[in-house]
Amino acid sequence: MLKIDWDHGCASDGSGAECKRIVIAGDWVPCWDVQKGSPYDRVMAERPEACYGGTLDLLRGADLRIVNLECAVEGEKPVIKSGPHLCACERHLPCLEAGCFEVASLANNHVFDYGAEGFRKSRDIIESLGIRHYGAGMDDDEAWRPLVCDVGGIRLGLIGFTEGHDLSAAAPGKPGVAGWDVARARAAIRELKKSCDVVIVTPHGGIEFAAHPSKYCIDAFRELAAEHPDAIVAHHAHVPQAIEIYDGVPIFYGLGNFLFHLGTPLHWRRHGFLVELEIARDGVHGFKMHPFFIGHDGLEVLEGEKRAGFFGTIRRVSRPFAPGEEPYSGFYGTLKYRWQNIPFSQFTAVAKFFESDPVKAAAMLRSRLTTLQNIGLNVPMYDRVARGIIDDAPDWAVEMEREYMTREL
Ligand SMILES: [Fe+2]
Repeated sequence: MLKIDWDHGCASDGSGAECKRIVIAGDWVPCWDVQKGSPYDRVMAERPEACYGGTLDLLRGADLRIVNLECAVEGEKPVIKSGPHLCACERHLPCLEAGCFEVASLANNHVFDYGAEGFRKSRDIIESLGIRHYGAGMDDDEAWRPLVCDVGGIRLGLIGFTEGHDLSAAAPGKPGVAGWDVARARAAIRELKKSCDVVIVTPHGGIEFAAHPSKYCIDAFRELAAEHPDAIVAHHAHVPQAIEIYDGVPIFYGLGNFLFHLGTPLHWRRHGFLVELEIARDGVHGFKMHPFFIGHDGLEVLEGEKRAGFFGTIRRVSRPFAPGEEPYSGFYGTLKYRWQNIPFSQFTAVAKFFESDPVKAAAMLRSRLTTLQNIGLNVPMYDRVARGIIDDAPDWAVEMEREYMTREL
């Protein structure tokens, strides 16, 4: 049984088993929202190795490297959608290669930002770089096809799925990402366990920038854990989030960004961590978290007090999953803080566009009405207000949310 050492951000089962090491990274993105600027565009193009900072040694020291490629790497025609269009250009490909990634997860809400044609070209380019992928495809079968890798004699199976923002989920005959279908992911885990030594799931979802995982993520990941994958490693929220070991399965609710600079001074949106999983043929025997700061010139691995402070925060945000705690207590804190401070922001942002760009406004409103992270925030928030229980959240959970939403560097 894995035991977490909160002071050092690691866990071990104490078996001393000889293991291979897999490193999983969060979002890799050079360009975002071109109109507003792209803080890492030049940095990743001009310093393709150096921008990884100390994380490059951690990556090179692993037996397998997996990254969430949260962008198209080719595409001419952006689709009409709610959020920004994330992309990489030819000038950023040396940086992608420098990370030595063998595997890219494409189950995310940006790999189709330039439509099916942009995706197809992007897929061909990353394959030409020798990077294997999973989680998206030109049809439903390809999107849901697990990836099987050999890691020093260990047969590793990978499954990814994501919130289908902007209706980008694949369907029979329709290109797209592997959408948020927990039952299907459970079936995929069951099937993959028959032929693989180790199975890891990398979901992409959750309420962006929240200190606490949402109820729908907690429920989904714990449901997946019932199939006993060897680990669940999630991303999308852009901030580092809680970890827990549930029914023997390590769950990482959010890695935060990797090589992705949001151009904000907000402290927690400028931090993330790599997960290093120690695996043998009989499963995961331990893990280490490697936290870093997302600096203007690249990543900086945290040392000393900053490192200890980071692990302290992970422990604090993981409190809802400690024995005897209410697992949704953190989420209730998120709802209370957001109701008190930004109750209608999901909709006022849309209203501004209705006169100047009604098509964009329609896409934004479509997202608010169909995307799980919006439904998963708004419905329980307004429900708890209407039932008069929005204030029934522990103070520490509300304060954590405040810290994540307001603390500056
Ligand atoms: Fe995302």
